[in-house]
Amino acid sequence: MGFAGLWDSLLPVGRDRETGGYRRYSFTEADLACRAWFGEAAAQRGMRAGGDRNGNLWAWWDVPDGPAAEPGSAVVTGSHFDSVPDGGAYDGPLGIVSAFAAIDQLRARGFAPARPVGVAAFCEEEGGRFGLACLGSRLLTGAVEPAAARELRDGDGVTLAAAMAGAGLDPAGLGADDGLLAGIGAFVELHIEQGSALHGLGAPVGIAGGIWPHGRWRLDFAGRADHAGTTRLADRRDPMLPYAATVLEARRAASAHGGLATFGKVAAEPGAANAISSSVRAWLDARAPGQGILDRMVSQIEAAARRAADAEGVRVSMRRESFTPPVEFDAALRDRLAAALAAQGIRAPVLATGAGHDAGVLAARLPAAMLFVRNPSGVSHSPAEHAEPADCAAGVAALAAVLAELAGR
Ligand code: GLV
Ligand code: MN
Ligand code: MN
Repeated sequence: MGFAGLWDSLLPVGRDRETGGYRRYSFTEADLACRAWFGEAAAQRGMRAGGDRNGNLWAWWDVPDGPAAEPGSAVVTGSHFDSVPDGGAYDGPLGIVSAFAAIDQLRARGFAPARPVGVAAFCEEEGGRFGLACLGSRLLTGAVEPAAARELRDGDGVTLAAAMAGAGLDPAGLGADDGLLAGIGAFVELHIEQGSALHGLGAPVGIAGGIWPHGRWRLDFAGRADHAGTTRLADRRDPMLPYAATVLEARRAASAHGGLATFGKVAAEPGAANAISSSVRAWLDARAPGQGILDRMVSQIEAAARRAADAEGVRVSMRRESFTPPVEFDAALRDRLAAALAAQGIRAPVLATGAGHDAGVLAARLPAAMLFVRNPSGVSHSPAEHAEPADCAAGVAALAAVLAELAGR
């Protein structure tokens, strides 16, 4: 099947009718439908498929009869199905659909892999339900403790362990899977670009250079609930004020340091229009071109939060929930990708990105690389995210060329 058929069959899953955005949260009905779609795509291709111990899915195109592949030489591609709240269609799924479409192209050409080719779908990449980004790949590589992961809670207080069990998966097996990783020689993730650099460069496809260090911090401002119409300003302990000051400081710090800082999620309790809040919970997402810059930026924001909270008689606590250090993708693998694409007449500029990816987590354990597909507006984590069909086709062709290079004789 070509890209379009595969893409169209996945498109309705988890899409909200009103917003047009995706709500594909881990272990929900939408996620289970994505998992079933993956199983069918693998079965239609005669690929061996199944889940690992960490909620990730794998499908394998085994080496046809002939000399055995070297151990540890599998070439894996893929991405994630899960979305941010009201995310776009492409962030994640494009890499999985393109993986199957690229395999179809290789098979149509009669290509026989000398190494196993795998397609992976990583679990909870966005951290949209349990707050920890790239959870599936972090568990797989041992970057997060299984016991701590099992206790992660979603917004309704449901633990990861309970959610997994509810979806028919066993949370007892969570944890590093060195055996699985040892079989993989290279991982290549194709992803929509989450910026418009390729558009500016007139290139449908790019290669990732590295990923900025980035993380999420949770801030809890605890004040005192009271009546909005009767409490004198001088008597208030309103957590909204230090929160607001912190948001403004985040913008100032990001601008001063050349980084990015965002408050995209906030909850005020108890949430009455005519009451001062008792507490404000908010999440800071901060990213920067270097670790030192990021540290300074976050320290500046934290100091401002403490100062503003003190001034209002509010208590504040700040805790890091997830963090990814700077990633520089394997230079030799990147050069091989560039050469394979150049041999097909594809010019693929190298781009750094501020977005996190499972490829960045896996890069700590094995050679990893990424291909980006042009996004004309650059918009992502929004229903407006888009890639033109011709560029998706260019992505599939590029991925097929890369897989042929890496898995060929
Ligand atoms: C994932 O898309 C992230 O960068 O947060
Ligand atoms: Mn994303
Ligand atoms: Mn993604």
